[in-house]
Amino acid sequence: MASEVGVVIHNKQVILKDYVIGSPKESDMFVTTGTIQLKLPHGSNGVLVKTLYLSCDPYMRGRMKKPLLPSFVPPFEPGKPLSGYGVAKVLDSTHPEYKEGDLVWGTTGWEEYSLIVAPVVLFKIEHTDVPLSYYTGILGMPGVTAYAGFFEICSPKKGEYVYVSAASGAVGQLVGQLAKSAGCYVVGSAGSKEKVDLLKNKFGFDEAFNYKEEPDLDAALKRYFPEGIDIYFENVGGKMLDAVLLNMRIHGRISVCGMISQYNIENPEGVHNLMMIIGKRVRMEGFVAGDYYHMYTKYLELVIPLIKEGKIIYIEDIAEGLESAPGALVGIFSGRNVGKQLVVVARE
Ligand SMILES: NC(=O)c1ccc[n+]([C@@H]2O[C@H](COP(=O)([O-])OP(=O)(O)OC[C@H]3O[C@@H](n4cnc5c(N)ncnc54)[C@H](OP(=O)(O)O)[C@@H]3O)[C@@H](O)[C@H]2O)c1
Repeated sequence: MASEVGVVIHNKQVILKDYVIGSPKESDMFVTTGTIQLKLPHGSNGVLVKTLYLSCDPYMRGRMKKPLLPSFVPPFEPGKPLSGYGVAKVLDSTHPEYKEGDLVWGTTGWEEYSLIVAPVVLFKIEHTDVPLSYYTGILGMPGVTAYAGFFEICSPKKGEYVYVSAASGAVGQLVGQLAKSAGCYVVGSAGSKEKVDLLKNKFGFDEAFNYKEEPDLDAALKRYFPEGIDIYFENVGGKMLDAVLLNMRIHGRISVCGMISQYNIENPEGVHNLMMIIGKRVRMEGFVAGDYYHMYTKYLELVIPLIKEGKIIYIEDIAEGLESAPGALVGIFSGRNVGKQLVVVARE
């Protein structure tokens, strides 16, 4: 079983069985073994990669749905491997920007080896003196999301009151730390005591609370923000958004990054307090990370020194082996992950 170019070898893959209704389960996917030739087909313009790390991201839930509404990403195809963000090593390339041996991050298949014919997102990894797995998180898509969603959408000012939901996750932990570095007062919420402890004691949030233990979210927010909220980094939607709307300050900003509480329900909950944005002159703006990839180099210039100096901490939840990928992915919808959820498929 050589791994030389041209050889046909086994290729483990994670396959979606069928479109998913309700909360995704491990049994909605299965791992199988196919084969792949370790050489690009003649005349193709692509990149053949060996997968090292795969990223488990909430947006993947939308891709498991039968496509009824237009979406910014195409659905997965039942019977085919999932795809998503990952870190990989180039084994063969006819693409002018990548050569054998390069490390890359971007969209790839949920499989050991992948043929990326028309790269949707693919970045060459230039900095290797930081953990390679970080390119699934702080140095990858979630990092750009936190950076652009906070600085570009919210235009924070020193001393402002910032609230982050799903605050211990891939995006949230970083938003909180960026907000602290911008001189803001930052409160986060998460779904367990362990996560609340992390927010306060590891990531440096000023305050944090377990939203699952708060019967009245409006009262909880009033307790932590007696003066109101200037910036809300929205990761969850639903009842939390409604409570936040009651607590926004004049000229507040809401960066709508995600609404994970709605992803598994067929009829999304209504938002009742939207009228508050009129009198309070609140600006609410949705965004997708891909719109900001042109800022990636600028972002790296900011964040890599902060990582190296220990001024930003990034927690990962690492699952071992492609077989663990379905479980790791479904776990993020029940909050099983502590920090950025990723899967190690192979170490270089
Ligand atoms: N716009 C973009 O381009 C973009 C890019 C990346 C991510 N996002 C969005 O950002 C949000 C966070 O993503 P992430 O990658 O950082 O994920 P994550 O926070 O690492 O993992 C998801 C977390 O969401 C929380 N959660 C799950 N179900 C929930 C529910 N019903 N109600 C409230 N919280 C729930 C859980 O934490 P708890 O234990 O705290 O409940 C879980 O750990 C998601 O909404 C995602 O879709 C958007």
